[in-house]
Amino acid sequence: MEILVTGGAGFIGGHLAEQFAYNGHDVVALDNFEPYYDLGIKEHNVEQGRRAAEESDGSYELIQGDIRDEELIDEYVGDADFVFHQAAQAGVRTSVEQPQKVNEINVDGTLNVLEAARNSDTTRVVVASSSSVYGKPNYLPYDEEHPTTPVSPYGASKLAEEQYARVYNEVYGLPTVSLRYFTVYGPRMRPNMAISNFVSRCMNGEPPVIYGEGTQTRDFTYIDDVVRANGTLLETNAADGEAMNIGSTDNIEIRVLAEEIRDQLAPELDLVYDERNDADAEHTHADVSKARELLDYEPTTTIREGVEQFTEWYQENRDWYEPLVRKS
Ligand SMILES: NC(=O)c1ccc[n+]([C@@H]2O[C@H](COP(=O)([O-])OP(=O)(O)OC[C@H]3O[C@@H](n4cnc5c(N)ncnc54)[C@H](O)[C@@H]3O)[C@@H](O)[C@H]2O)c1
Repeated sequence: MEILVTGGAGFIGGHLAEQFAYNGHDVVALDNFEPYYDLGIKEHNVEQGRRAAEESDGSYELIQGDIRDEELIDEYVGDADFVFHQAAQAGVRTSVEQPQKVNEINVDGTLNVLEAARNSDTTRVVVASSSSVYGKPNYLPYDEEHPTTPVSPYGASKLAEEQYARVYNEVYGLPTVSLRYFTVYGPRMRPNMAISNFVSRCMNGEPPVIYGEGTQTRDFTYIDDVVRANGTLLETNAADGEAMNIGSTDNIEIRVLAEEIRDQLAPELDLVYDERNDADAEHTHADVSKARELLDYEPTTTIREGVEQFTEWYQENRDWYEPLVRKS
């Protein structure tokens, strides 16, 4: 199968490209190497993809390009059986500073992908959406019936992405699925996220910094579960036209998470508190019944297991990963 992964040098796209190549598919990873965080991590992602293809019957090609470039997107979407559209300006904070840029990449870029797919024989487009489409919770855990009232330009752009995906299914019959990821973590994760930060600071004898009181809760999803959910969409059309939560169903207070990492790595440290960012969600918690029903999705890694696995990986890759986290 020919698979295009946009944002294929990023964290989630990198893992998807690696797994698909490993499973023997012909993968094209398209990425513009946006310097939102250190490019060294992306180089490692690409390296993993290449290695996976060498160890299997698959192939891996990296295209350095931008999803805002319509011609380029027409060409590469046109050649693909499946598109896993991960490219985006991720992160709530950047979106508050640069809402127009985020709209251009996330919304216009997604429209280019969908339009190209509509004009070719694409079997399915899978769009990376986010729990940030929900905004403030009326109730938890969020199910897909929960109102979608995002509280950041990023959340608004993700909602627009998935609405376009749904409309392209409805109006043009293009098979599309949107997966609403809940804070994804694991090896090679973006350096500017809570878990990578807490682990890195504790390893260096510095206290973890918490924004606000740390009573925010997060449903952290281990990358392997996200990869598995995406992989299912090579096999089934049961979710076409739908958007659904991909979470862990497990949630934890940020303060407790920081304490657990601290207790494990540097028990002598006290936590440090800083000002909270209002655009950050207060609580996220996923009800995954819909994904369970349509995709047979079952999260397998609890937050404690996942943090343990991440910490082990961090220790093994400390020489190259840590300097990049420290820079962010
Ligand atoms: N990581 C999470 O917790 C999380 C949660 C919810 C949703 N998501 C979504 O999942 C997707 C992947 O997120 P990630 O964590 O891997 O982020 P990431 O930043 O590591 O990956 C995104 C990739 O897209 C690339 N990119 C950005 N703009 C581009 C453009 N104009 N053209 C081509 N490539 C471009 C970047 O260079 C990057 O490599 C994103 O759509 C994000 O919104 C992520």
